[in-house]
Amino acid sequence: MAIQRTFSIIKPDATARNLTGKINAKFEEAGLRIVAQKRIHLTKAQAGVFYAVHAERPFYDELCEFMASGPIVAQVLEGEDAIATNRAVMGATNPADAAPGTVRAEFAQSVGENSVHGSDAPETAAVEIAYFFSGLELVG
Ligand code: CDP
Ligand code: MG
Repeated sequence: MAIQRTFSIIKPDATARNLTGKINAKFEEAGLRIVAQKRIHLTKAQAGVFYAVHAERPFYDELCEFMASGPIVAQVLEGEDAIATNRAVMGATNPADAAPGTVRAEFAQSVGENSVHGSDAPETAAVEIAYFFSGLELVG
């Protein structure tokens, strides 16, 4: 597998509990390099555009409210097979199903407030990175 980039968010439930460093340590221990990172506070409308793929799902409104409820840390992670590697570090969406040692098993509070986002495919990674970062902000 080649070197790949993926988009990551440390969500408001995690920034509220001061977990940015602990989560970043898990990424770095897995061989992922943080090549861009910024702490921002999304509006609900901005969160809605980011999660537009879920617009028809019953949890969409609550998800957008949550993502705008406090600061997030938006990141680009780079490494070998970064999309799959990051999703393995994150663990399953529902923390009740997340493998021991994963971010969601250790830190997530519920299926909604689950501490991290990670892209699910190269196409979505490219769109998500471009939504948050310019090329000049990606420093490998
Ligand atoms: O984040 P991930 O790719 O693992 O899951 P998703 O299916 O793409 O869902 C996006 C986000 O919606 C999740 O991370 C949860 O924050 C939220 N969600 C929810 O609130 N309730 C669900 N039943 C499923 C997802
Ligand atoms: Mg997803």
